[in-house]
Amino acid sequence: MSYTTPQRTLADWIRWTERHLRRAGLHFGHGTETALDEAAWLVGAALGHAPQEIEAHLDDRPTAAQLEKIRALVEQRIATRKPLAYLLKEAWFAGLKFYVDERVIVPRSLTGEFIQERFQPWIDPARVRRVLDLCAGSGCMAIACARAFPAAAVDAADISPDALAVARINIGRHGLEDRVRPIQSDLFAALATEHYDVIVTNPPYVAEAEMAALPPEHRHEPAAALVSGAHGLDAVTRILAEAAVHLEAGGILVAEVGGAAAALQAAFPDTPFLWLATETGDESVFLLTAEQLAAHSGR
Ligand SMILES: C[S@@+](CC[C@H](N)C(=O)[O-])C[C@H]1O[C@@H](n2cnc3c(N)ncnc32)[C@H](O)[C@@H]1O
Repeated sequence: MSYTTPQRTLADWIRWTERHLRRAGLHFGHGTETALDEAAWLVGAALGHAPQEIEAHLDDRPTAAQLEKIRALVEQRIATRKPLAYLLKEAWFAGLKFYVDERVIVPRSLTGEFIQERFQPWIDPARVRRVLDLCAGSGCMAIACARAFPAAAVDAADISPDALAVARINIGRHGLEDRVRPIQSDLFAALATEHYDVIVTNPPYVAEAEMAALPPEHRHEPAAALVSGAHGLDAVTRILAEAAVHLEAGGILVAEVGGAAAALQAAFPDTPFLWLATETGDESVFLLTAEQLAAHSGR
């Protein structure tokens, strides 16, 4: 089947795209986990459909112009190894659409499912008035929290002015200027007097030595969003030391630390990390209460 065969359906073109992506040996993991999911996202986007709408359009027949779009995206994805999200300037997180470009990582944090569950049963959603998304990047977690807790004010803190520029775009697109506040801050440095019911964070956590081994797709993301010292623990160690001061009594810290989970547990064997099981079975998101964090930092 050549890409100039307009009588084929969307389902056929998804299979065609999947074959090309798979044969090219790409890395998936920036919003999709498989060649098929990425093919469906790519083909759907070329036709203006959100990923969750594609199923209803599988029998549609793309126009020649739409096929050209599909072909161009497949070519770019393979030639550049850029994550599809950057080519489309869109990403999906917690069921919401976000603007993204190379100033931020592609949203994919495993915290998404816990945000959508409103962190139950670990906190009563009715008491959540203030949320901090620390290391906010595109603002995806801050915005998902604002949606999950309609009465809450949310701070979105990041050290990078570039990332905050993207977060501002997303805050505007979601109409949340009155409840989500972008703040430039080196972790808690600009938040000295602030207190929260929930702090959620997906900080950098890749060890320096591991950076070179990451698939090419990761090299299009800002290095400062990924790497965090020799063992990947620099940012999270500081967060653990400082979070207690910024949490209300009964508040919680929810943090993703990816592949650094084992190193973190080994570094702090007496800290009672609660590793939250995700749908995929990963154990790389931990929860600690304000009281446990106070004990951890000796406050
Ligand atoms: C892994 S990304 C997470 C972005 C977003 N929360 C997400 O899940 O898509 C980490 C973010 O932390 C920011 N960052 C790195 N060091 C920081 C620091 N010392 N203080 C605040 N933000 C920092 C980076 O700019 C980057 O946007």
